[in-house]
Amino acid sequence: MTRAYLPFTRPSIDEATIEGVAEVLRSGWITSGPKVKAFEQALSEYCGNRPVRAFNSGTCTMEIALRIAGIGTGDEVITTPLSWVATSNVVLGVGATPVFVDIDPVTRNIDLTRLEAAITPATRAIIPVDLAGLPVDRKRLYELAGRYKLRVVEDAAQSFGSHWNGERIGAIGDFVSFSFHANKNITTIEGGCLVMSDEAEARLAEQYRLQGVVRSGFDGMQVELVGGKFNLTDVAARVGLGQLPHVVSFSERRAALARRYLDLFEKADAAGLGLGLPVADFSNSNWHMFQVVLPEARLSVARADIMAQLHEAGIGTGVHYPAIHLFALYQRLGWQAGSFPVAEYTGRNILTLPLFPAMQDADVDFVVETLISILLRNSRS
Ligand SMILES: Cc1ncc(COP(=O)(O)O)c(C=O)c1O
Repeated sequence: MTRAYLPFTRPSIDEATIEGVAEVLRSGWITSGPKVKAFEQALSEYCGNRPVRAFNSGTCTMEIALRIAGIGTGDEVITTPLSWVATSNVVLGVGATPVFVDIDPVTRNIDLTRLEAAITPATRAIIPVDLAGLPVDRKRLYELAGRYKLRVVEDAAQSFGSHWNGERIGAIGDFVSFSFHANKNITTIEGGCLVMSDEAEARLAEQYRLQGVVRSGFDGMQVELVGGKFNLTDVAARVGLGQLPHVVSFSERRAALARRYLDLFEKADAAGLGLGLPVADFSNSNWHMFQVVLPEARLSVARADIMAQLHEAGIGTGVHYPAIHLFALYQRLGWQAGSFPVAEYTGRNILTLPLFPAMQDADVDFVVETLISILLRNSRS
């Protein structure tokens, strides 16, 4: 029997949601309308009844949070160099300067022990990223932010469904930005939302979302700031409404698969081969991804070759992410190779293995067995 190709991720969208989308399409109201309102209401309930607004990406949410906080030219925003480039692009987008702080090699998140040293009089905000759904230590983060009066824009693109010490990510904190891109734990195909603490800021978020427009009565319209075109459609919101009830079961299935990966890698003595495994966090993480770090010095081939061999065997993998400051744009702006060695090493060697709710236990067994044999085959003698 030939195996079906195993992608590194795949959304789980149930038939009721597909039918619900067809109903929205038939309804005649397909862009932002009642489904977006219902989705925002459901998200707000999930996030402890805080103000939530839906958007068409988890990128514009962060840019808008920075604008609401009044961050712009001359300001510095501290973040991690190991993220999707959106995280720091939004800082450049508002005219501010990203300040990178190297990552912790264990959590692969921003190293909070080094953060304080990066704070200057120009620092206005921190953007922590919960890579793979593993949350940054919120207690330590908000202690620092409070001490230096900094705003926090949590890039929680990957951590919908994660917790910090029993509280849901989104239910606590300053600005919390989620993405509902197709690869995320719950999806709206493309989309995102911003959780806030303040109704006045939520009203500003609405203005930035759609051309700065404020409507009143039947025909009143006013524009006081430059907004963009960042609204979510009702079609997308209906997908999100169908996903939200599954957030716990999706996370549980992901955690069970992650546990199986960790057990099997341990049995295969992956650590002995130098393979870096993710933190075994089964209370906070939503297990958005299962990422290993390849043992660069012990391999006779580059990561791309390992990926090609896995692909040949029918296994899809991904890279999340190369270190941001090494991209040509960032080099041109003055960042230098060697500045953040942990992020650079991790970015060169990190590999996302398949993990999604519909995956079978046997798929995990197959990935572990195949990866171990590929590592052995490509080890320096
Ligand atoms: C860490 C991180 N930040 C930001 C984003 C941006 O989200 P979106 O693709 O919805 O704009 C993503 C999504 O890939 C992400 O993974």
